[in-house]
Amino acid sequence: MVARVEPPLYCILLGPPGAGKGTQAITLSQDLGLIRLSTGDLFRENIAKQTDLGLRARAYMDRGELVPDDVTIGMVLERLRRPDCAAGAIFDGFPRTAAQARALENALAACEEGIACVLDLEVSHDVLIERLGGRWMCRGCGASYHVSYHPPTVAGKCDECGGELYQRPDDNPETVANRLRVYVEQTEPLQQFYRERNLLVVIDGEQSIEDVQQAMRVAMELARSRRLFQFNTRRAMPPIPQ
Ligand code: AP5
Ligand code: MG
Repeated sequence: MVARVEPPLYCILLGPPGAGKGTQAITLSQDLGLIRLSTGDLFRENIAKQTDLGLRARAYMDRGELVPDDVTIGMVLERLRRPDCAAGAIFDGFPRTAAQARALENALAACEEGIACVLDLEVSHDVLIERLGGRWMCRGCGASYHVSYHPPTVAGKCDECGGELYQRPDDNPETVANRLRVYVEQTEPLQQFYRERNLLVVIDGEQSIEDVQQAMRVAMELARSRRLFQFNTRRAMPPIPQ
């Protein structure tokens, strides 16, 4: 009898700026006991602490462009090596280029791991513009609010941690337009990359926050079962005779 051991679970949230990646990743990561690895938040933390990485990233973020791959990949792989990632991670905003996707795939393959699923939030252009225009973020925990769709209980304060809410500098109309353009050019091709690997699950991101959450939870549970089956089947296989 082979003991059932849970393999780490790595899931990617794909979707354009304003699709709801952060909103969903925060709740899912808490419920599933996984860390949320948001490259946008890691860059913003570095900017707040005025590190060299933060100073380098800021110029790109202010323009709505992607931070160069070498910087981003190095930061993510370093984060993944920390012990709190042992159970897996929910990637929010990473990967965003083919080079990032390949680097992640190679890093996980080196530890005989892989991505369990890629949840692609589909939201139309006009809805994205409206969401980003009305968004307020928490300086403390990174939670997202919206003036109409998801207002905080007390104006200006985060429901989760009591932190101060602010509007992101890259949520102005010009930078938003560039972020959406960059997404189409550099990140949307990853849909095909993951579709070819049979990992892509498209989720209607225009449902209510609760319904999107439910759809993602179902997809992640299926992916988790599939990973568990693959993992235990592999462990139970006798060695190939030489
Ligand atoms: P990042 O911080 O990741 O921003 P983004 O990808 O542009 O996405 P957002 O955070 O704007 O949107 P979201 O999908 O999280 O939506 P949210 O949940 O907040 O990256 C910022 C920058 O960092 C990049 O531009 C780049 O410069 C750099 N960067 C980051 N990662 C990088 C990488 N891998 N490589 C290179 N550079 C990188 O929701 C939006 C609003 O909608 C909120 O107000 C929310 O309350 C509301 N909302 C959410 N869901 C719903 C719903 N179902 N119904 C109604 N309202 C909803
Ligand atoms: Mg976000």
